[in-house]
Amino acid sequence: MTPTPVRIGLLGCGNVGAALVGLVRDRAAEIEARTGLALEVTRVAVRSLARDRDVELDEGVLTTDADAVATSPDVDVVVEVIGGIEPARELIVAALRAGKPVVTANKELLANLGPELFVEADGAGLDLLFEAAVAGGIPLMRPLRESLVGEDITRVMGIVNGTTNFILTRMAESGASYAEALAEAQSLGYAERDPTADVEGYDAGAKAAIIATIAFGSRVVAGDVYHEGISNITPADLDFARQLGFVVKLLAVAERVEGPDGPEVGVRVHPAMVPAAHPLASVRDSFNAVFIEGASVGDLMFYGRGAGGGPTASAVLGDVIDAAANLRRGHGASLGTLAKATLRSIDELETAYYLNLEVADLPGVLATVAGVFGAHGVSIRSMEQEGLGEGARLVFITHRAVERDLQATLHELRDLDVVGRIVSVLRVVGADEG
Ligand SMILES: NC(=O)c1ccc[n+]([C@@H]2O[C@H](COP(=O)([O-])OP(=O)(O)OC[C@H]3O[C@@H](n4cnc5c(N)ncnc54)[C@H](OP(=O)(O)O)[C@@H]3O)[C@@H](O)[C@H]2O)c1
Repeated sequence: MTPTPVRIGLLGCGNVGAALVGLVRDRAAEIEARTGLALEVTRVAVRSLARDRDVELDEGVLTTDADAVATSPDVDVVVEVIGGIEPARELIVAALRAGKPVVTANKELLANLGPELFVEADGAGLDLLFEAAVAGGIPLMRPLRESLVGEDITRVMGIVNGTTNFILTRMAESGASYAEALAEAQSLGYAERDPTADVEGYDAGAKAAIIATIAFGSRVVAGDVYHEGISNITPADLDFARQLGFVVKLLAVAERVEGPDGPEVGVRVHPAMVPAAHPLASVRDSFNAVFIEGASVGDLMFYGRGAGGGPTASAVLGDVIDAAANLRRGHGASLGTLAKATLRSIDELETAYYLNLEVADLPGVLATVAGVFGAHGVSIRSMEQEGLGEGARLVFITHRAVERDLQATLHELRDLDVVGRIVSVLRVVGADEG
């Protein structure tokens, strides 16, 4: 078979781009033998030609003219690994309009403007592939788009931010405070100097929007996702969780629930208590995992490295080969119409809760507190009483309750004289949540 040349135009040559250049060089011969596609990186656009780069590129390959790379007649597939909204968006549009399939790792762009880019790609009959945008090296988008496209997926729960998983693991296993664990993550290069996007759940929220869009075939954008981060989690929370048989994880949860007028989609990111026996509980350090619940297939879990140049470039390379094979066939894959999702707001979502209250050590307190739960329709699944005198605590786990009812319960509990302080409240996910 005569090999089909595939000339890759690379936009960006940082962590991911440089790893992709090396991977293409190392794997090209075997990829050609297995697919008949002869990959070569022929053009690379960067911001600065002066920067030292740890990649071998032929003379003249590197340029600062990204638009010329995106539209070059000498490029068959465009890879966007610049990041951010602009100029990434306009370069992707320019490449598609010039008849080139695009592979991107850009979660920020896809979570905000993905639907408009998918329409552009669909209109051109070209691929816009983005396996690397969610959970780095873990194959997730293609299984959702292809293997599971016929499945009735009810819920997807992911640990999709390695930084926060590393911090929570260190806090749980070494008793470090949040600040200490964050400093360690920063010193190891797992966390940025400004860690807000990771620790406050924005990064996981962007990935949750993309997951929900692909899992449920309906449009969800980053602004639709409710998010809470991990900066208020204390070692005491993790210790209580452990005593009750749980671990605390930052979860991205996308679920489809039946609404009065048809299916609704709820998407949220927050710390959650996960039973120690649940597969997600064993995902430690900076690893990622995504747990999928389907009506027919049952439970599935995908696990691996959610970031890093090598793992992310591996996902990009798989997409490049897919896009090139589809180009040879003459048509890219489609994501379908992607109607806007009907969203279920966090107030309406149901989950179980863990509550830890400091209370007065007096007769009748338990009955008073339990009465407040009952008045708001929040039913108690288990209760433990801990400590005496000043340190007396009541620890509750509820059955599934509507968020609004739980918030009303907390509001009333705060006003009770016998409740000194609400020490912590966490959602409980993945238990038998009935
Ligand atoms: N790193 C990961 O682990 C990871 C994981 C999953 C997804 N991603 C996604 O992959 C993308 C790239 O991430 P990265 O870590 O590789 O970023 P990075 O190391 O910051 O690299 C960005 C590259 O883009 C180039 N660039 C910036 N503005 C440009 C412009 N206007 N025109 C041409 N080139 C420009 C930079 O050029 P200079 O080299 O000259 O500065 C640099 O080579 C992002 O969307 C990120 O979210 C990354």
